[in-house]
Amino acid sequence: MHPYRLLYPMRTYLVISGHGEEANVMAADWVTIVSYDPFMVGVAIAPERTTHGLVKKYREFVISVPSLEMLRDVWIAGTKKGPSKLKEMSITLVPSKSIKVPSIKEALANLECKVVDARGYGDHTWFVGEVVGYSYREEAFKDGKPNLKAKFLAHSAWTDFVTFCEEIYKTE
Ligand SMILES: Cc1cc2nc3c(=O)[nH]c(=O)nc-3n(C[C@H](O)[C@H](O)[C@H](O)COP(=O)(O)O)c2cc1C
Repeated sequence: MHPYRLLYPMRTYLVISGHGEEANVMAADWVTIVSYDPFMVGVAIAPERTTHGLVKKYREFVISVPSLEMLRDVWIAGTKKGPSKLKEMSITLVPSKSIKVPSIKEALANLECKVVDARGYGDHTWFVGEVVGYSYREEAFKDGKPNLKAKFLAHSAWTDFVTFCEEIYKTE
């Protein structure tokens, strides 16, 4: 077993890149918050991904938060290459607020990012983006926190995905 598995389960996201005919979506587990203020996020994208070329070209991307209901689309996004996969997917691309790369209507949230840095580490490039706009489903983030009933998606291994149990454990 490769030791990267020791960091799993991890949340799974969708990365949208390009726009118009070139709009593309891939699945990504390797996403993280990089800075709180200004708010920046990073995603590790392998150079062979179509998404890599599109993010480099347009210097914008959207991190979209899927729910378990979107698992079929997530799997297509994560196993097929290039914009033609969108024909097989049932997502709706909608205009973003602050960038040309579109958002996903059905997603729980969309974070619109402008690339501020791109750096290669080993076999992936870390693209860091400043979040310049966002949208989210009210019912998925009630009272300023995630509503676990929205079934946030996490990846366990290979074809296995999980979601969070709804029980909350308080520290005090
Ligand atoms: C659940 C899941 C998570 C993935 N996470 C990443 C990731 O973090 N970084 C990456 O470069 N590829 C990741 N991949 C692989 C890409 O999503 C996959 O190669 C995809 O087909 C690339 O699409 P594209 O060529 O249209 O950009 C993941 C795949 C799956 C199924």
